[in-house]
Amino acid sequence: MNPEIDIRTAESEEKEPTAIRGFKYDLIRKRNQNGSLILLLQSAQESYGYIPEKAICYISELLSIPAADIYGVITFYSQFRLKPMGKNLIRVCEGTACHVNNAKALLECFRDELGISVGETSDDGLFSLQSVACLGCCSLAPVIMINDETHGNLDKTKLKKLLKAVREKELCACKRKEGAAAQ
Ligand code: FES
Repeated sequence: MNPEIDIRTAESEEKEPTAIRGFKYDLIRKRNQNGSLILLLQSAQESYGYIPEKAICYISELLSIPAADIYGVITFYSQFRLKPMGKNLIRVCEGTACHVNNAKALLECFRDELGISVGETSDDGLFSLQSVACLGCCSLAPVIMINDETHGNLDKTKLKKLLKAVREKELCACKRKEGAAAQ
C-alpha cells in the first residue's frame, strides 16, 4: 500500500480531529528530515495522546522501517506510550526524601490496588502512573500528585483511601452522565 494514498484518503474523512490531521501533515513534511522516525513518533503521540498501531503502520510504510523495529524504538524511550493516558495522572515521587520515607510502599500499593507499575495505565483507563525525581515538597515525603493535587505524608492506608475516593468520584460523574443521556 502506498502511504501517500492512504494519508489522502484518511484526510478526507469528515470527522477527523484537527490534531490527527496535523500528524498526517507531519508525515509528509518531516519524512525526509534527519531523525524523522523520532519526530514522527513525537508527532503521533502529540496528536493521539499515545502511539496507536495505525500510526506505526503509516510511519513504517513511509520510512520503510519494519514495524517491529519501530516498536523497539518506542519501548526504548520512556517518553513514548503505546496506550492512551488514564483519566487521572498520578505522579509518584522517587526522590531521596520520598525514597527514605518509604515511597516503595506506595509503589506496592499502586500495584496491589490498581495493578500498575510506573509507566503503565490501569485496565479501566482511570489511572496512569508516572514517577518523578522531586515534587518540591520534600518535608511532606512521601508525596504523590493526582492530577493537580498534592498529597503528602502518605502510607498504604492513606493511599488506599485516596484511590477509593477518586474511584467514587469517577463513578458519580459516570452516573450523572448516564442520567443526563437518558433524559
Ligand atoms: S524528594 Fe519527594 S518531594 Fe522532594
